[in-house]
Amino acid sequence: MPAQHDIAAETELWDTFAASAFKDDAEPSFCWTQYAGHGPGPELLGDPRSVLEIGCGTGRALAFLAQRGIVARGVDLSPVMVKKTTTKWASFGAEFVCAEVLQYLSEHEEAYDAIYSIFGAAWFTDPSRLFPLVRQRLNPGGVFVFSQPPAIPGAYGPQGMYKGGFAGKAMFTYRYSYRPAVWERLLTRAGFASANAQILGAPKPGHIGTLLVHAMIP
Ligand SMILES: C[S@@+](CC[C@H](N)C(=O)[O-])C[C@H]1O[C@@H](n2cnc3c(N)ncnc32)[C@H](O)[C@@H]1O
Repeated sequence: MPAQHDIAAETELWDTFAASAFKDDAEPSFCWTQYAGHGPGPELLGDPRSVLEIGCGTGRALAFLAQRGIVARGVDLSPVMVKKTTTKWASFGAEFVCAEVLQYLSEHEEAYDAIYSIFGAAWFTDPSRLFPLVRQRLNPGGVFVFSQPPAIPGAYGPQGMYKGGFAGKAMFTYRYSYRPAVWERLLTRAGFASANAQILGAPKPGHIGTLLVHAMIP
């Protein structure tokens, strides 16, 4: 049976996340990995005039890009998070929209030089539905870049994930995990001209690395 996304329930889950993950004293920062200062930076986006972050969470990466004069918009499912990020980062020039990513990309025809996700909506959305929409919303020469944890060996496709400890209200979502070669195939099937997926090692041997995926359209 395929994943049974319940967007209202997932919104509640991410609102709970927002209440704990958002820090009022956060600074703008851009990092693709779970380890501050580790791995490449925003140069993977090329030299965009406009970006869309999907599942932008705390908004720190968008604030970082907006500070550099890039037209920076983020979409996030959680109204709690979007209220907090708008209050905190709107003065930096970043714009935050509360929406489900598939719905937003289907209904809004604006195009961007780069679309990206850092442990964001690309991790939590069925790639067979998401990738063709992202492809449609990129300007010529545009890039799609995302990062998330690598798949656990043998555990591929949609993975159910409960919020927090395994007690209390049953809130869950799905995240999508594949081997790098499968991510590349999904992207080229969705119309991307080139796709490169690789696993970047963690700063310490034996620690969890980062899946980093970069795709381009002609
Ligand atoms: C792990 S957090 C984001 C991490 C982010 N890079 C940060 O620094 O906070 C994942 C985010 O994706 C958002 N999200 C999950 N599913 C989504 C969907 N279908 N549409 C839009 N946003 C989604 C959640 O609301 C959450 O804020």
